[in-house]
Amino acid sequence: MADLDDLREGKLFGVGIPVAQQAFHVKGADHLSWGMKDRLSRIFNPKSGRSVMLAFDHGFIMGPTSGLERIDLNIQPLMEYADCLMCTRGILQTSVPPTVNKPICLRSDAGTSILTELNDNVIIDIQEAVRMNVSAMAVMLAIGDEKYEAKTIANLYNAVDQGSKYGIPVMGVTAVGKQMARDARYFGLASRICAENGANIVKTYYCDGFENVVSACPVPVVIAGGKKLPELEALELCYKAINEGAAGVDMGRNVFQSEDPAAMIQAVHAVVHESITPQQGYEMFLDLKKK
Ligand code: 5RP
Repeated sequence: MADLDDLREGKLFGVGIPVAQQAFHVKGADHLSWGMKDRLSRIFNPKSGRSVMLAFDHGFIMGPTSGLERIDLNIQPLMEYADCLMCTRGILQTSVPPTVNKPICLRSDAGTSILTELNDNVIIDIQEAVRMNVSAMAVMLAIGDEKYEAKTIANLYNAVDQGSKYGIPVMGVTAVGKQMARDARYFGLASRICAENGANIVKTYYCDGFENVVSACPVPVVIAGGKKLPELEALELCYKAINEGAAGVDMGRNVFQSEDPAAMIQAVHAVVHESITPQQGYEMFLDLKKK
């Protein structure tokens, strides 16, 4: 029975004070459910609206590539500097301590290795994603690939259907087939197709005319870093992408293959969230590297 003694009457009703309308900080997410918004807010910092995602899912196609031989030794020390971790379930379960308490963008499709061309992908069971408490599921799309385009679009569609049931956002990852031009026309097309099919985040590559790619995409765009560049060039890439509208980076090799991965991710973080210049970021990298 409820305790009725000392039942205090409410007084602070704020009559006449309208309830503040809060704009949500993630593009295209205003009408999503609370669970979706909560997860997106874990990935995209509500103050800057941006995210530094650390991608180390490469092993699912490349095996123990340089920088990823030992996740416990090479990647664990970087986790504190990332806003979100992108990996496969195998690495999540074996090598990411749950105590790290970072949002996870789970690589949720499989079926390809570097030994073959693109392949028929499968996607993870949604219950597995729920069990691992992930904040997003990443699914690759092979737009323009005659053989696998439809299959990968179907995978995205399916992931979005399943994710919607449980409030889990989906990130569409635009793969570039060897025969595709890496230009704004292609990335704009592929990114828009991801969003049209329900992706809540799109991961693509920076290119000339990138502002058009972002502008025509109704959800946040994050860029992959691509192959390893000298540190200053990688910071320039981040800076240009952010300046032209990216909501963040989902970077792997340019961090974990850097001469000093911890210094590099901190410099990337400052470029993305504090809008420092690439030169300032590089000086920060050099200072941190000395320590
Ligand atoms: C592959 C991926 C990778 O995670 C992505 O390419 C990011 O890594 P990098 O910055 O090394 O390119 O999604 O499909």
